[in-house]
Amino acid sequence: MARPRIIVTRKLPEEVEVELKRHFTVALNTTDTPFPKEKLVKAMMRADGVLATFGDAIDAEVLQAGGARKAQIVANFGVGTNHIDLGAAEELGVVVTNTPGVLNDATADLAMALILNATRRVWMHENRLRNDEWHGFDLVSGLGRSLRGKTLGIIGMGRIGTALAVRAHFGFGMDVIYYNRSKVFAAAVPEAKSVPGIEALLEASDVVSLHVPGDAENRHLINAERLALMKPGAYLVNTARGDVVDEAALIAALQSGALAGAGLDVFEAEPQVPEALKAMDNVTLLPHIGSATLETRVAMGMRAVENLRAYFEDRPVPHQVA
Ligand code: DGY
Repeated sequence: MARPRIIVTRKLPEEVEVELKRHFTVALNTTDTPFPKEKLVKAMMRADGVLATFGDAIDAEVLQAGGARKAQIVANFGVGTNHIDLGAAEELGVVVTNTPGVLNDATADLAMALILNATRRVWMHENRLRNDEWHGFDLVSGLGRSLRGKTLGIIGMGRIGTALAVRAHFGFGMDVIYYNRSKVFAAAVPEAKSVPGIEALLEASDVVSLHVPGDAENRHLINAERLALMKPGAYLVNTARGDVVDEAALIAALQSGALAGAGLDVFEAEPQVPEALKAMDNVTLLPHIGSATLETRVAMGMRAVENLRAYFEDRPVPHQVA
């Protein structure tokens, strides 16, 4: 039987490309820029499977180009699948897979980095130094806040939320509280306390970190009313999806001084980042790099290859989401 043909929408780590080529006839993308919609449609029409990632808008129209007609699997490189219409995929019989598990540490590390950046005002201080605005040791200006004994509120206590709880509690002495849609027990941090609702969490936390999926239910989960519940001088960190936070409301809360700062790795309309955020020195802004370590990206890619192989070898597909 001819080897299945896979079209890849983005440049992959070298090792992953080599592994893909061992099993499939592959059309690689030599650049790290997303496919425009027409190219995604063509890929679905021409390939047996498409290896795609965040930023590739795989809507019903794109999926229809595959389905019964051609590509029957979209192997997503990433855990979040909010850029793929899963309902349409199910209707059309297109299998969708993702790559969970292997990016927990990298994303939790980055969330912790954002917490430290926000509370110690790292970006502001570095910027001051680079702009030759540092004139010697400062005793009381530009002070940050310590983490020990402060409360970290985690919304979404899945794998990444739990990995962050471990770091924050055991590494930095923070008390951890969490809210999760379904009931969970964070066995890795038995001291962490579940709270009954998002409101209670916001009212009690010095730092809030978001770890929920970017689905319709979570759009603007953190809106103006909820931001108003946060402690004066609290910090918000988002490494989940941009639209979980109402960005305009967040900007207003930061501008008014209600919040002390924020650390954001994701934005509502990536890659656009509001100028108002860029102008603030109490906000750290990163270009969606939660899982961006070489080790993690290789592991994610291998997981995507594993999903494709299982599908075409007629074995149970390990990480099927639709
Ligand atoms: C993920 O895996 O969901 C990351 O955000 C990259 O898409």
